[in-house]
Amino acid sequence: MTPSFLPHVSPARVHAELLGGEQAFPPDRAVARCVTEAAPWWPTAVQGLHRHGARLVAHLAARGLDQFLDLGSGLPCGRQVHQAAAASRPGQRGTRTVYVDRDPHVHTVRRIDLVDQPDAASVLGDITDAQALFEHPAVQELDFRRPVAVLLHDVLPWLPDEAATHLVTELRRRLPPGSVISVTHLLTAPPPYATTPLVRAYREAGIRLWPRDLARIGSWSGTWPAYTHGQHTGGGPLPVCALLLRAPGPGRFTRPAFWSPSRRGAAPGGLPPRRRPRINSRAEVATCAGTR
Ligand SMILES: C[S@@+](CC[C@H](N)C(=O)[O-])C[C@H]1O[C@@H](n2cnc3c(N)ncnc32)[C@H](O)[C@@H]1O
Repeated sequence: MTPSFLPHVSPARVHAELLGGEQAFPPDRAVARCVTEAAPWWPTAVQGLHRHGARLVAHLAARGLDQFLDLGSGLPCGRQVHQAAAASRPGQRGTRTVYVDRDPHVHTVRRIDLVDQPDAASVLGDITDAQALFEHPAVQELDFRRPVAVLLHDVLPWLPDEAATHLVTELRRRLPPGSVISVTHLLTAPPPYATTPLVRAYREAGIRLWPRDLARIGSWSGTWPAYTHGQHTGGGPLPVCALLLRAPGPGRFTRPAFWSPSRRGAAPGGLPPRRRPRINSRAEVATCAGTR
């Protein structure tokens, strides 16, 4: 039974369940089973994108980025951004990571997790309100005279078009030269990886999801140099993509080596799924609609 103080399905906990975490409650697990039945490839895609995120952070940190703003951070699962960043800069100046999520459960878990971690902070907030986001004291502790890496990993598909476009535009406007924006996103696709049944399964649980095509996602780069990696760019068959944008300014900007087309056939991040939510029975799947 769901504890009364957590009555709703949480997209963050459904996501954690798909990643093989232990934080989900029964309604979240039921939704994870429903969406997996609708799109059996989805947990593999989610896990691949998550590993891609950790890998990209290591890539950026190794190239000198030491400030990370993780928007729509989700629950801690596996190696976290501040850990991946610090591990990639041994013996160098410390890193600073700010996690932001609107889910109070995520914020509580993060705060507990980050006790005694001076290099990271958690913010409870709505990332579509860019003004409030940039005025938050924890975000202002980042030094915006130096480059910042903003992570939008698997969060923009959960925002309507106007909000997603506005957010990326605001980030491009506010970030200093040398900053980067890293995006991962679900693509619209036909069978066998059709996203329509997935969108419908989430909607039945009260969660909206917007897959988009590469042209739409690519348009967010504006005038910034950008690299894309995904279904149509050698990144594998699953309908997901990654986009890396860099604020114009001095210094080299190169495609991450691990985006090489030689990884054809793998999802970004490339490893097999750790655990798939089990579909036990039709009855369990039917509970999906009752979890709103
Ligand atoms: C699918 S999870 C992705 C988690 C993580 N970034 C990852 O790559 O594994 C999406 C997260 O975005 C958060 N989120 C969605 N819309 C948001 C908003 N407007 N403001 C802040 N967080 C948001 C959700 O609460 C959820 O934790």
